Amino acid sequence: MSASQAAKKQGGLAGVIAGESAICTCGLGNGLNYYGYAIEDLARNCDFEEVAFLLQYGELPTSKELESYKEKIIASRALNENLKAVLRAIPKTAHPMNLMQSAVAALGSLEPESDDFKDQDEKIIRLLGVLPSVLCYWHHYANFGREIDFNSAQKSIAGYFLEKLELQAPSDEFIKAMHCSLVLYAEHEFNASTFTARICASTKSDIFSSVAAAIGALRGPLHGGANEAAMHLIEGFSSVEAAIDGVNKKLENKELLMGFGHRIYGTGGDPRNALIKVWSKKLGGDTLLFKVSEAIENLMKEKKPNLPPNADFYSASAYYFMGIPTDYFTPIFIMSRVSGWCAHIKEQRANNKLIRPSSTYIGPEPRNFIKITQR
Ligand code: COA
Repeated sequence: MSASQAAKKQGGLAGVIAGESAICTCGLGNGLNYYGYAIEDLARNCDFEEVAFLLQYGELPTSKELESYKEKIIASRALNENLKAVLRAIPKTAHPMNLMQSAVAALGSLEPESDDFKDQDEKIIRLLGVLPSVLCYWHHYANFGREIDFNSAQKSIAGYFLEKLELQAPSDEFIKAMHCSLVLYAEHEFNASTFTARICASTKSDIFSSVAAAIGALRGPLHGGANEAAMHLIEGFSSVEAAIDGVNKKLENKELLMGFGHRIYGTGGDPRNALIKVWSKKLGGDTLLFKVSEAIENLMKEKKPNLPPNADFYSASAYYFMGIPTDYFTPIFIMSRVSGWCAHIKEQRANNKLIRPSSTYIGPEPRNFIKITQR
């Protein structure tokens, strides 16, 4: 079946090649590479900042470059008073993804990008530095009425975020697990949120608008929100037996099992899953939650071999074992994927053409207009 036949049959632009990109291979031989580097090498060896640098500039940094990059990100952590006021106005009941989107949109007003985009790299670094502060500041203010500062001895986004969330130094193990998760979530070709960012950037809009648009697309449970939905699924079972029974029932009822399936990877599976599973097992291998997760994975392998777990399935339990509230799983995804979105925004801008596809019209035939007074 050709790509266009597949798209027609399945909808959702499945199989449609929507443009060129040098950033990432996704699903070629089921592999995942960022600028040619295998995800396995990056996830096992790199801090997230190394990968963010790779995505921003196209090459891995030297030690000196990495040091200076990290310093710039650290210098971008603080929120100014106006942004704090915006965050304080957002109630505890807000969805944290809307909160993050509002903060990025507010940055577009408070710290606008220049019209010629000459400062786009500075703005990318600002976003990398500020997003963990946004979530943690709001978390403490909305829930406990306290305002946190942005000072920390933690040099990495992973360590800084974990420290500011709990207001205590995280373990090295948690920091390493978080680096791995951020590396895995950083980039994924023309997924829904990245494509949204590229569409927005193609209108020559600013970087904050493009990232805010992408956050909106990431929020849904068929995309980024799947890690939270997977957590709800797993924690809903009080034993391995209940999980097997419950998942069987869901399959009989043709319900979606969150954290399984992928548009691109198909039966070969998502290469990120094995990498994050290692961390989930290391952090919580003895717990009932992990045993329930494995039981669900094994049952799905038996009953639905064409729907292997994706990156979200074991990311959920890994975050849970780090003590992160479920509502913050997808906002963490933003802190990472912003690097990929911005790589695509830069690439789109470098060779821009407005993205404006066409549709097949299926509406009424031309008809006579009747004035409102005669309808
Ligand atoms: N659980 C149960 N059945 C699933 C499923 C899942 N997670 N994912 C797909 N299927 C089924 C569909 O119901 C459909 O069945 P049908 O042919 O009988 O109607 C079939 O598999 C094909 O699925 P489809 O929805 O057409 O595939 P897609 O490429 O459009 O969807 C996802 C891809 C990722 C949106 C889909 O697999 C899904 O919703 N997964 C759960 C959400 C998730 O984990 N998202 C994160 C992705 S990284």
